[in-house]
Order: sequence, then structure tokens, then C-alpha cells
Amino acid sequence: MGRIVLFGATGYTGDLTARALVDRGARPLLAARTESRVRALAEELGGLDWAVADVGRPETVRALVERGDVLVSTVGPFSHWGRPALQAAVDGGAHYLDSTGETPFIREVFEVWGPRAEAAGVGLLTAMGYDWVPGNLAGALALRDGGAYAVKVAIGYFASGTMGSDAMSGGTRASAAGVFLEPSFAWRDGRLVTERGAKRVRAFTVGGKARQAISAGSSEHFALPRTSAALREVDVYLGWFGPMSNPLRAFSAASSVALKVPGVKPGVGALLARTLKGSTGGPDAQARSRSGSIVVAEAQDAHGAVLAEVRLEGVNGYDFTAGMLAWGAETALAGGLQGTGALGPVDGFGLDALEAGAREAGISRAA
Ligand SMILES: NC(=O)c1ccc[n+]([C@@H]2O[C@H](COP(=O)([O-])OP(=O)(O)OC[C@H]3O[C@@H](n4cnc5c(N)ncnc54)[C@H](OP(=O)(O)O)[C@@H]3O)[C@@H](O)[C@H]2O)c1
Repeated sequence: MGRIVLFGATGYTGDLTARALVDRGARPLLAARTESRVRALAEELGGLDWAVADVGRPETVRALVERGDVLVSTVGPFSHWGRPALQAAVDGGAHYLDSTGETPFIREVFEVWGPRAEAAGVGLLTAMGYDWVPGNLAGALALRDGGAYAVKVAIGYFASGTMGSDAMSGGTRASAAGVFLEPSFAWRDGRLVTERGAKRVRAFTVGGKARQAISAGSSEHFALPRTSAALREVDVYLGWFGPMSNPLRAFSAASSVALKVPGVKPGVGALLARTLKGSTGGPDAQARSRSGSIVVAEAQDAHGAVLAEVRLEGVNGYDFTAGMLAWGAETALAGGLQGTGALGPVDGFGLDALEAGAREAGISRAA
């Protein structure tokens, strides 16, 4: 029997995920780069096994897993630090889950690492947290409800409650900064097209009010077409910015031009990396309890008529991420993963199992 290995256990999301795993009765091996911190956490959580691994020494990451294990990585920003864990999973024969939300990294997992994982007989589940599981679930449910004429899906992510200035972890800010400079994508006419992030703005009706949201590249664009072969369009929108959505669209258009000027992109990248740092913690339990998640999906026919709507609601994104990674790792270890290669949450676990897992992690269909 393999085991669950959690890499990045001493980070903000890693720590939450370790606790969620232990709450479920699992005994993961905890891995991180600083011995004193990972040992202390392993002791606190009931004498778990632990190991030291650093992405700067990929052989230490490779040594974490053997065939049959499940590797969960919360080491980010993934565009910088994510590849050693993928390589370790593929070479070691372990299934893999991560907490990324980063658009370019998700694309790389599906396009580059997926075929390697398929050859190795393992499954790769990227973006298995709040980014971007609820939208995959809501989208798949809406497409199922919409029936045979549903060929487009639009998904919107919104926050409920109060999001203070402490709502995002340092790791989230550092990862978002890296994504900001990179191209995004959409699913159009049945194929993936590259486009800038925040290229489009649209409104969804949420709680009786029109709420604006900006377009974003996510795992839904790769994963939903696998479960619904007729799907021509997938659009995912982030609704956290409210009235700032249109200014953000304008800024995205202007900066995409400016970033083409030689030297500007590396300069801005270096500035963002200096200003936005990871490993600086995140919202505490009280702050998290003040906000929640709303994710909506519309399935449409070829003319844009709405055939079905689904609304999911539940806990704060960080609590959901920890619970979902814990559920996913346990389910994969127990043989609940369908297929190999890069997988989406719906094709990876099956729609009914995923819906049950998301409910356990705190997000479910609103009545
Ligand atoms: N999908 C979602 O909705 C979602 C939710 C939460 C987080 N995330 C993403 O998950 C990632 C982690 O977020 P976070 O809030 O937990 O950030 P964080 O606290 O900054 O965690 C980053 C982790 O990476 C580790 N790390 C950095 N460099 C390393 C190295 N050379 N070798 C080994 N480990 C290294 C850090 O180790 P130390 O502990 O030693 O500093 C820490 O454990 C970010 O990319 C974030 O965007 C996504």
C-alpha cells in the first residue's frame, strides 16, 4: 500500500492541508525544506513521518516517492518551483495533485507533462483547490442538466461575506504576480486559443444582483471538453474585483502592449518578485470564516440561450483547497482515480464522486 506525501507542508496551504489530511484519519509523510519546522509539525500532528526536500536539489524531491504513492505539492509559485515535484511523480510512479491556480503552469501540465505521465501510468491532477475545482464541478453539472444541445459553458467565481486586506496568502500574491505577465487562454470553436488574461468582462446575476467578472485561463478549458465532446466554448471569469473589472480589462490591454517592449517584462517581473513574497502566511481561521465562495455556471446552446444554471456555495477558498486536496489524495490512494496522464477533476474522479468530495471539502450545490 502506498502513502500520501505532502510536499510544502510548512507553507500556509501545506499546513492547512496536513491538518485536513489528519482530520480525515490519514497519516501523510510531511516534506518541506526546513528540518526543524517540518519535524515540529509532524510531531504536533501525532508523530507523522517527515522528510527534508528542496526544489533546488531535485534529487531530494525525487527521493520522496515510490510507485503507488500519491504526491501532493503545495510548493509555489509553481511556475518557479513546480517542476521537480512533477518530475518526481512521473519518474517515481506516483499519482500527483497540486494546489496551483497559475494559468501557464496548468497549460504546461496538460500539454507537456500529461503525455509523460500517461507513459508512466500515473495521473496528474493540477489545480485541485479552489482554483479550479468548483468551476469544473459547476460546469459539468450545468452541461449534464443542459442536455444534448449544450455546447457552451460560462463559469463565474465570486466571494461572499467580507474579504479584508488579509484575505490572500503571501503565496497566492506571489503566484498571481507571476501569472499577470504571462499569456492566458480560452476554448473557442472546439480548440484552445491563446489570449491575454482579463480580455473579456461579463456580468453574472448572483444573489439577484449583476456582478462583473474578468476572463481567466484555468483548468476548465482543458478538462471540461474531455467530458463533453460537443463543447465549443469554455469561458471562466473571476468575479473578485467588482467594479474594478472594466479598468482591469483596460489595464490588461495596455500592459500587453507595454510588455512587448524589450526589457519591460523582465523589469516588471523582478519588481513584482521583490514586492510580493511567499512564505508570509495567510488569513487565520477567524478571517477565513468571514468569507465564503459562490461559483456559478451556465450551459448554453449554440445561439447562447441558457439551458441550465448551477450555483455552488460554501466555505472560504483556502479551507476548500485544503479539504479538496486531502479528499483527492485519499481517494487517489484508495484507487479512485480513473485514467492516467493529465486529468481534470471530473474525468479524474467521476462527476458524482467529485460532487461528494467537494461537499466534504465544504462547497456544494445551492438549493
Ligand atoms: N488553488 C487555490 O485555490 C490555491 C489556494 C491556496 C494556495 N494556492 C497556491 O499554492 C501555493 C502555496 O500557497 P501558500 O499560500 O501556501 O504559500 P506559501 O506559504 O508561500 O507556501 C509556499 C511553500 O513553498 C515552499 N518552498 C518555497 N521554496 C521552496 C524550495 N526551494 N524547496 C522546497 N519548498 C519550497 C515554502 O517552504 P517554507 O515553508 O519553508 O517557506 C512553502 O511551504 C501558491 O502557489 C498559491 O498560489 C492555490
